[in-house]
Amino acid sequence: MVTEREEIRGLGHSVKRVEDDRFIRGAGNYVDDVVLPGMLHMAILRSPYAHATLNGIDASRAQALPGVVAVVTGELMAQHNLAWMPTLSYDTQAVLATDKVRFQGQEVAAVIAETAYIAKDALELIDVDYDPLEPIVTPQRALESDAPVIRTDKEEQKDNHIYHWETGDKEATDKAFEVADKVVSLDTFYPRCHPSPLETCGCVADVSPATGQATIYMTSQAPHAHRTVFALVAGLPEEKIRIISPDIGGGFGNKVPVYPGYVIATAASLLIGRPVKWIEDRTENLISTGFARDFHMHGELALKSDGTMTGLRVSLLADEGAFHADAQPSKFKIGLFGIVSGSYDLPTCHVSADGAYTNKAPGGVAYRCSFRVTEASYMIERLVQNAAYELDRDPADLRKQNFIEKDQFPYESATGFVYDSGDYQAAMDLALEKIGYDQLREEQKQQRDDGKLWGVGLASFTEIVGAGPHKDYDLLGLRMNDGAELRIHPTGKAILKISVQTQGQGHETTFAQIVAGELGIQPEDIKVMHGDTDNTPYGLGTYASRSTPVSGAATAMVARRVREKARQIAAHLLEVSEADIEYDEGVFSVKGAPDKAKTIQEVAFAAYTDLLEGMEAGLEGVYYYDPPNLTFPFGTYAVAVEVDPETGVWEVKRMVAVDDCGVRINPMIVEGQIHGGLTEGYGIAAMQLITFDESGNCIGSNFVDYLLPTAWETPKFELGETVTPSPHHPIGAKGVGESATVGSPAAYVNAVIDALRPLGVTNVDMPLTSAKVWAAIQEAKATASS
Ligand code: CDP
Repeated sequence: MVTEREEIRGLGHSVKRVEDDRFIRGAGNYVDDVVLPGMLHMAILRSPYAHATLNGIDASRAQALPGVVAVVTGELMAQHNLAWMPTLSYDTQAVLATDKVRFQGQEVAAVIAETAYIAKDALELIDVDYDPLEPIVTPQRALESDAPVIRTDKEEQKDNHIYHWETGDKEATDKAFEVADKVVSLDTFYPRCHPSPLETCGCVADVSPATGQATIYMTSQAPHAHRTVFALVAGLPEEKIRIISPDIGGGFGNKVPVYPGYVIATAASLLIGRPVKWIEDRTENLISTGFARDFHMHGELALKSDGTMTGLRVSLLADEGAFHADAQPSKFKIGLFGIVSGSYDLPTCHVSADGAYTNKAPGGVAYRCSFRVTEASYMIERLVQNAAYELDRDPADLRKQNFIEKDQFPYESATGFVYDSGDYQAAMDLALEKIGYDQLREEQKQQRDDGKLWGVGLASFTEIVGAGPHKDYDLLGLRMNDGAELRIHPTGKAILKISVQTQGQGHETTFAQIVAGELGIQPEDIKVMHGDTDNTPYGLGTYASRSTPVSGAATAMVARRVREKARQIAAHLLEVSEADIEYDEGVFSVKGAPDKAKTIQEVAFAAYTDLLEGMEAGLEGVYYYDPPNLTFPFGTYAVAVEVDPETGVWEVKRMVAVDDCGVRINPMIVEGQIHGGLTEGYGIAAMQLITFDESGNCIGSNFVDYLLPTAWETPKFELGETVTPSPHHPIGAKGVGESATVGSPAAYVNAVIDALRPLGVTNVDMPLTSAKVWAAIQEAKATASS
């Protein structure tokens, strides 16, 4: 008999984040908090030049500084076959330069010293002999026939071109353009930006001379994948490597690649026999770790005169920096840019992409993004707005006319992706209603008559998250499946071990809620463990909003597996057959006799105390999930702005964001994710740019030049939701972490362009600084008066 029970706080409950207790009390444990006996400190000497021949390094003065233990150079690394390492895109990257330096900030030498201060001071005593070469700072220049070859280390590389890649049906698309009533085009640049997490990258490498065991504490979004990469790069046996990823102060894609600093610190610890700590400073993080975007794009949309979209053609040139290190599944040469047709029922589409080496930092990381879906979403949403103007249509109406309709799902796009579910119209309708779209358009007419620049911008994005199904996805050959391991203790409390790694998303809370929903154990009774390769199941980590779609599904499935064993035990306890047992919210009862019941806690106790003869003891399981498809969250964002015609300053008056991420596990956490994403999207649209002068000096190397939006600039967000479950995910959830960063930049930019429309401005590239907007206004006025 089971008495009245408290409601289980599973799916749909805004449970407060358990991890916040330790963060609010300052009791988090970050890599820089790790202090080991005998620990040394490492600092890295970086190249001042973007492109130069390296003639030699004299480290004798640095070696002589008291407290310096060793100076590591590329030559020393080469002796151990560690001067180069593989990138995530099957290229190679210099760990420490041996022949040339190829970007400003490249790793040239490392000092290992008793204190971090001595290590930094010693860097100034290293003498490096460089011969500067012509720096290449644009991919266009890189591809000119007389441009110096950057990757002279690669024998087969005779120029700076890295790849050409195409997808879609070129012939059918060209045909659609030939017969189109209207072709609208847009040239735009998605600038280089940076994830810039508050905690920079770093590690403590501890290789024991006694046991050969390497324990590496590192700021890793993908500890298991990193362990495998370490094993492959360093030739160490995998069981001798343990990666511990403690609390992480934000990742956003920045902590997916393996950086030279990790490799040097580990090699130094191995050679010296003492733990070595390396913590990047802010400038090092901004100038040398994974950048994002940097796409020069040309898009064309073919339409009928009634507004029906009939074809899409996009070509782009990617600036990959000095080493091609895009973080992306190997089957998609340019990530998920192939999803460029967005939310629209486009019968034909063709995408072509080229990549070029330049003298800039490598990266191409998925900054709060699924492998280039952000650039794709920006391209189509900007193009659609311009198409509406050229056809003299309202941008909302043109979108609605061309949306993939609710009953078309599952929908196969022209580039072969199968969208799982969606209701784009519903999300758009809600966003328009919340912002009062019709009334805003009326007010806009009035404001325009008064000489004011008011704009309304929309973006109806479709996301693609949950990398990935094994038929299409792998990272360096590794399948992108994730494991979950669940054990219920005798007292009915549980421990869940997951392969993904939280960096602020609240996994310790939401993953416990998934188990709560499946087993009826309250989330506070479930401890979630992650970030330790020796103590969690294998999986490829957290990025590209894949945790919920992949690891969340593994969690639901392992809980279901455990529930089946619990059902057998309940049947034994209640002396009925398994088929006669019903389950509801943590209670197993006899069909037709609800008073005869056992709670999950009673069943758990019996699993260790009272089992049917021959039944295996314990209540636990493990499940590896290989998703059948990706999940496709979506939404509509609507922004109203006013632009000051005298200064170009623009202000967000309203920002409405309607998101659909399927079933929401924790609505409060989902809203937090959306707020954060909208803020980052605003930063990208309004102020962020890593750029370079003609000598290849990186501008944007600190937070005075590279701006993060503060509470002062950040707009006020008004959120709305629709819920369209994923049909193939066990709990119907889709990812959400990156949606707002993917979808919002186009909405902000569309709003500003809409404000400038009376002047005839059709494009301003991000970031839309007031200076750029002002210049666009001046240019438009000059053109009008000439
Ligand atoms: O991979 P990552 O954790 O960055 O992204 P995500 O899977 O989109 O999840 C971000 C956070 O939102 C996690 O704590 C999720 O469990 C939570 N979430 C949710 O509560 N409901 C959803 N439908 C999607 C995510």
